[in-house]
Amino acid sequence: MLSDAVNVEPHENSVVIGTGKGGVGKSTIAAHKAAWHAARGERTLLVCVTSQDDDDLGIERFGRGLLPEGPSVLNGEGLLRAVQERIPLLPVREVRPNLDVVPGGEAVGELLTLLTARIPVEGVSVVASLAGAIAPIAPWYDRIVLDSAPEQDALEQLALAAARWLFVPTRSDDTSIRGMRRIARNYKLVRSQVNPWLQVAGACLYGSNPSATQLHEEVRQDVVEVLGPNTPMLSTVVGYREMPARNARKKGLTFGEYAALLPTSAKSYDVAAGRAQRADVVPESIKPLAEEMDRLNLEVDAYCRKGA
Ligand SMILES: Nc1ncnc2c1ncn2[C@@H]1O[C@H](COP(=O)(O)OP(=O)(O)OP(=O)(O)O)[C@@H](O)[C@H]1O
Ligand SMILES: [Mg+2]
Repeated sequence: MLSDAVNVEPHENSVVIGTGKGGVGKSTIAAHKAAWHAARGERTLLVCVTSQDDDDLGIERFGRGLLPEGPSVLNGEGLLRAVQERIPLLPVREVRPNLDVVPGGEAVGELLTLLTARIPVEGVSVVASLAGAIAPIAPWYDRIVLDSAPEQDALEQLALAAARWLFVPTRSDDTSIRGMRRIARNYKLVRSQVNPWLQVAGACLYGSNPSATQLHEEVRQDVVEVLGPNTPMLSTVVGYREMPARNARKKGLTFGEYAALLPTSAKSYDVAAGRAQRADVVPESIKPLAEEMDRLNLEVDAYCRKGA
């Protein structure tokens, strides 16, 4: 599908989170990484190249951030319009201090039709079209994080063409490892034909048991086999903790923000006494989850700096 060379040099601190497989934790990691940089005072842009309506940061449900004037940019519509009309991306501003977001959503699915229609005429420049829409606003930011769509080669390539780094979270099952083969294939294509600056920042085991060291080693071997012998495998494993992860997303809060509510949250005995609802109880397990996510962000960042 890719044929000519078209180079739009991505921002030096831009990273795409990709795995080739759905439901692995890409959007969760992308939102948390972006929020982590913003909380450190770095001007950060999160671009969600995904048709899922994840809303980890509460933009749609809780109206966080300042919407740009003009047509809607929510639900992936801004992203679609920017690529379609070849105009700069218009993010939702200040979703958190220092954090702007280009939300994903249903309209991103239409990008596939658009790209497919343009390929016969434009060849590879189609894949660089998101990079082109980011380039005019990239100088506003210290960091750019891209979330990618699973199992859609064209959307994955679009995101890969717009970043300097690829970070690959994976689960330990065979389908996740097969998903890594897809991202590895797209990585090689995009790197050789569109974005020669792209590098693998590393991989991590996500949503697993952090103390299962044997499993970790087996996945490391799979990662090295699929992504190459020089791929850093991060030591941080974010555990599988469904309840706090789900509750935090429902409230449009990062794990750290949700954990900060713990000291003043209702407790199970308040629910038993009829003084509170179950939904008001912040589970204790949010604490280790928030800590693991922080450690992951530190480690990913360290690898990107070392690589640079
Ligand atoms: N550490 C965790 N433990 C358990 N569940 C988690 C954890 N982190 C995220 N989740 C949940 O797992 C589900 C999938 O996560 P997420 O949406 O981040 O994956 P994804 O790779 O972006 O999926 P998709 O491919 O559909 O875009 C979500 O419901 C999310 O709330
Ligand atoms: Mg996602």
